[in-house]
Amino acid sequence: MNRINGRIAKYLFILLASAGVAACSNEPGTNPVAPTATPDAASVAGGSPASPQPIRKMDEDEPDEDNTIIITDFGVQPQNLKIDKPGVVTFINRSHTNRWMRSNPHVPGGHNTCPGSDGADVFELVGVLTPGQSGRTGVIIQQSCGFHDHLLKDPGIFQGTVTVEEGYRTALSALSAISLSPASVVGGNPSQGTATLTSAAPSGGAVVMLSSNNTAATTVPASVTIAAGSMSATFALTTAAVGASTPVTITGSYGGATRTATLTVTPVPAPSPSPSLSAISLSPASVVGGSPSQGTATLTSAAPSGGAVVMLSSSNTAAATVPASVTIAAGSTSATFALTTAAVGASTPVTITGSYGGATRTATLTVTPRMATVTYVNDAKPILDANCIVCHSGPNPAAGRNYTTYAGVMAVVTPFSASSPLIVQTQAGGGMASHLTAAQAEVLRQWVVVYGAPQQ
Ligand code: HEC
Repeated sequence: MNRINGRIAKYLFILLASAGVAACSNEPGTNPVAPTATPDAASVAGGSPASPQPIRKMDEDEPDEDNTIIITDFGVQPQNLKIDKPGVVTFINRSHTNRWMRSNPHVPGGHNTCPGSDGADVFELVGVLTPGQSGRTGVIIQQSCGFHDHLLKDPGIFQGTVTVEEGYRTALSALSAISLSPASVVGGNPSQGTATLTSAAPSGGAVVMLSSNNTAATTVPASVTIAAGSMSATFALTTAAVGASTPVTITGSYGGATRTATLTVTPVPAPSPSPSLSAISLSPASVVGGSPSQGTATLTSAAPSGGAVVMLSSSNTAAATVPASVTIAAGSTSATFALTTAAVGASTPVTITGSYGGATRTATLTVTPRMATVTYVNDAKPILDANCIVCHSGPNPAAGRNYTTYAGVMAVVTPFSASSPLIVQTQAGGGMASHLTAAQAEVLRQWVVVYGAPQQ
């Protein structure tokens, strides 16, 4: 852009100056006479445009402006062009008449003041340009080459010079791209940017100016310097936590070129819910003091690596004790622990507490006193007769169970087993528990579990 603006400024200057410089002093003020080496010279001189080779039709795409001289009705732009050595210049005729750019000045024998590597004058390849046509010179190796419009008696501003310099374009390297890796980061994490030039940085290095359009989400250094001779350099991007996915435009500029890249800063993903204690359960929930029970600690989700240590406690360590903790193995959701009970004088509820992951859960263990010898005849039968046989007797007893005889009751009893249907049904939560008091249920329990259901 700057180059184009510069060219327009130069163009205006040319308009104002419009001073002619005498050139081609050895050419008469008549139509120019082409050198004898140019076969079409006569027709050119006669006014009908000839086409010395090579002349190309102008493309839609203009040639690289850095190596182009445009001919208008008001002169050549630029008059002094500097390009890489070796280089080729394209002339474009945007004026309304034929133009014939040839080397300047004349030397005896013709125009050959700017020979290329093959010895021939590099401007000869351009040939006569009709309006709209363009032509390329040969490869220019001589440091400075003058040219002028051979068709004019006084070329004036229709002349100029081309100078070549080794590595000239290198010194004019510009920013080619800004790239980011990764291009998407969770806020708070870093990213890395790379600034790349069109050609190696000049001596002293290339200082690429950097900016972020959202410094709350992403910051970049004010600039990054690409070392002399290098094509690129990296720089660090710092990001901050964001509430929602945020695109941030990172802009770099150098050598008149501005390039951007987009960094997407994303919110921290919602953490997977860490497990906490879901429940403490006890089995059995009621034991005669001195008998063991077993507890189970269950988590809301699988324990993390290293396991979950559930802290345990008993509200009455004289009646029931628990280990200080139980570890649930990584990946598991539960673990069991042993409860030890001691003899008690009266039925004693003990609260067993577990805690993990910010959750505290409890369960109640009832520790009961051990009764004196309990038998069917003396203890169980009177309770069953009074509360159960109303349904569980006769020709069609409930559930097909007749509890009027010892044998009938033993059909639902396994001696010493708390899993006996009689015990399961009559303990708290059992289907038949409503027909008994807690004390009566405890008698049936101790008869079966503690004493093994003796008849008498
Ligand atoms: C009001 C009627 C009724 C009373 C009273 C009653 N039961 Fe039942 N019982 C039933 C019925 C009906 C079933 C079968 C359906 C069920 O399991 O709920 C049953 C089932 C049972 C079972 C399960 C049987 C099996 O095959 O697993 C047991 C054990 C039991 N009762 C014990 C008792 C005891 C002990 C009592 C007294 C404390 C009692 N029942 C009082 C109606 C009764």
